[in-house]
Amino acid sequence: KSDEVYQYQGFWHTFFYLEGLLSAQQHFKPQTNDIILSSFPKSGTTWLKALSFAIVTRSSFDISANPLLTTMPHECVLSLESDLAHNSFHRNQDTPLIGTHVPYTSLPKSIIDSRCKIIYICRDPKDTFVSLWHFLYNASFKGVDSSAKEDADFEKAFELFCDGVSYYGPYWNHVLGYWKASLESPERILFLKYEDLKNETLFYVKKIAEFMGYPFSLEEEDKRMVQKIVDLCSFQNLSRLEVNKSGQLHGRAYLIEKNAFFRKGEAGDWKNYLTPMMAARLDQITEQKLRSSGLTFNVGSKV
Ligand code: A3P
Repeated sequence: KSDEVYQYQGFWHTFFYLEGLLSAQQHFKPQTNDIILSSFPKSGTTWLKALSFAIVTRSSFDISANPLLTTMPHECVLSLESDLAHNSFHRNQDTPLIGTHVPYTSLPKSIIDSRCKIIYICRDPKDTFVSLWHFLYNASFKGVDSSAKEDADFEKAFELFCDGVSYYGPYWNHVLGYWKASLESPERILFLKYEDLKNETLFYVKKIAEFMGYPFSLEEEDKRMVQKIVDLCSFQNLSRLEVNKSGQLHGRAYLIEKNAFFRKGEAGDWKNYLTPMMAARLDQITEQKLRSSGLTFNVGSKV
């Protein structure tokens, strides 16, 4: 069944993506300037892909002609374990960006050895879970639509998430893998939080650009280029574009309506879905798992 999960190197994967990961671990050869965009699902992947794509393509296109206006962010950036692995790593796009949800400890050795830059985005687990649940509820797995809906039962999904059983889960191990690696090699791994990116978007977009080796010049700053990129990639803008509103994302394990990637785009929406007990439970697990790591999330259950 294509929605069944398999444990591999401590994390849960669907068959399709696991096949892709195994292939990537064996065969993937990064190019010198590749930049890996990594995340746990529903942590802001689409936003990070859009921003990074807009940053690296800004000298090739006018903002008003950027491909993001007519192509979904996920189709602008190739994915390591789906597009690339299942097409024998064939690159049909000319950007250095590669998206992945693969945990740090399972990344192909070739990526670690190449010293490719990696940008990781994470998000408060309560919002991540709520976003994930909505997403799965909207997803239709190829050939197994009905059981996917059954699995989308909110409380059952919550229990599984808490137990670490979700795609690319356990969530906490995923985040910690990249967090620890970023502490060891801050010049190679930029660790971002969705909530910070929401609060100080301009600051972080400049930081991302500098980290990637595409810093904004003074002239570009004068021309408000950073703000233009922020506006182009904002939830409001991307979610209203025809290309993101209708149709499905093709060629992957499941067929997903493109608009499922653009739901609310807020921090703290968990308050509308989790009971106080559920929120406290997730906070407690997070507290316990991240204790002494130095990593915290500010969207506490009392807010
Ligand atoms: P919600 O379900 O809370 O709205 P991913 O891209 O990793 O799949 O994560 C999807 C989440 O990011 C969804 O969260 C989605 O609405 C939000 N999102 C998508 N595009 C965004 C953007 N441009 N800015 C902020 N959030 C965005």
